[in-house]
Amino acid sequence: MDDKTVDEIFTRALSTPTLFTNKTVLRPDYVPSRLPFRQAQVTALGEALAPVLRGFIPSNLLLYGKTGTGKTAVTRRVLTPLGQRTTHTTVPVSVAYSNTRMAGTEYRVLAELATALSLRVPFTGLAVTELFHRILLRIAEVKSHVIVVLDEIDFLVKNYGDETLYDFTRAGEKLSDGHISLIGISNDLKFKELLDPRVLSGLNEEEIMFPPYTADQLKTILTERAQSAFLDGTVTDAAISLCAALAASEHGDARRAVDLLRVCGEVAQREGARHVDESHVRAAMQRIEQDRMVDALKSLPLHQKLVLVAAVFSHSNSSTGELYDDYMALCRRAGSEPLTQRRVSALLTELDLLGLLSVRVVSQGRYGRTKKVNPLVSADFVTEILAPDPSVGGLLVHWPTK
Ligand SMILES: Nc1ncnc2c1ncn2[C@@H]1O[C@H](COP(=O)(O)OP(=O)(O)OP(=O)(O)O)[C@@H](O)[C@H]1O
Ligand SMILES: [Mg+2]
Repeated sequence: MDDKTVDEIFTRALSTPTLFTNKTVLRPDYVPSRLPFRQAQVTALGEALAPVLRGFIPSNLLLYGKTGTGKTAVTRRVLTPLGQRTTHTTVPVSVAYSNTRMAGTEYRVLAELATALSLRVPFTGLAVTELFHRILLRIAEVKSHVIVVLDEIDFLVKNYGDETLYDFTRAGEKLSDGHISLIGISNDLKFKELLDPRVLSGLNEEEIMFPPYTADQLKTILTERAQSAFLDGTVTDAAISLCAALAASEHGDARRAVDLLRVCGEVAQREGARHVDESHVRAAMQRIEQDRMVDALKSLPLHQKLVLVAAVFSHSNSSTGELYDDYMALCRRAGSEPLTQRRVSALLTELDLLGLLSVRVVSQGRYGRTKKVNPLVSADFVTEILAPDPSVGGLLVHWPTK
């Protein structure tokens, strides 16, 4: 691309009228001042926590609901004003928040909580138990009542078990001064089954449910969001309805709905269109779907990638047996020990769930039934995405043609 072309791109960007007035309100972490259809949850959380302002101990809480149902938004909407009122309370109150999936490790979760309590801890190096101990000492020292929020708590439990959570629920017994109340947030509805009954009863003193939004509710949410994000009248009603309907098609996920609204705005903007209409929503849907595939593909574990590579380069409708042979050949080339056929079969089911390939059971009359595998992504697509991947990229270059 020469300088002139770049220049033209910038000139065009400056001369096309913008559709957006405030794009920040479409960011995933933006919390709008109004949260329609969540008044009951806001009230329940507010009422559960309010006693802390008068020196009483609130119950531990579990917030539950599928992804994009407003759990984080409601929590932030309630905790921010609570945090602002903690200066004149009888007992000092602090709020410590960590999203355990984003923190990534148990150590970092505790380090984030420590930082929220103005406790300086090293980035790594301490034992988790020591870090926990220091947090308790700090709470006892400032005699503070701490509300600990563990968002996406299922990540922590799935990867590190429920020991730390148990310690949190029992911290009150160890603390002579100060107290900890826990708010756990989860979008995995089976999460409770992972917990030891003692931990569950400690954490689950009260529960707040977040049902999925209906398409109509998403439409209201999007209409309000569009009013603050776009120039008046630029987003058509039909576009908003379609965003809402598409986002409600699996379960009513407001994040998906807002994402769609942002991306369809970007598509329309790039086209130089004056209105955002349904065609932009459809294009946005495709782009999001494509991005989702790319992310899913990149983050697959090694053997999952090898199985997928085998599937996209095998002939179509291959049987699981044929696929397993190709997979083993790939493992040999990658210098990696192959997994058993049974395990590979489980990996195929997971890839099917991710929408990267389809596994169908086909009846073969009196020869019984067999499973046939068909990729849902093209070999070119997989090659483009995985070529830079050091673990499998080399295998894609010299794929033996059949
Ligand atoms: N009632 C609502 N009104 C307006 N916007 C909402 C509402 N509920 C959710 N949103 C918006 O939808 C997006 C997702 O919400 P949020 O992050 O709270 O979901 P979540 O339940 O925490 O999902 P996850 O389990 O995936 O973390 C955010 O941008 C949020 O602002
Ligand atoms: Mg959340």
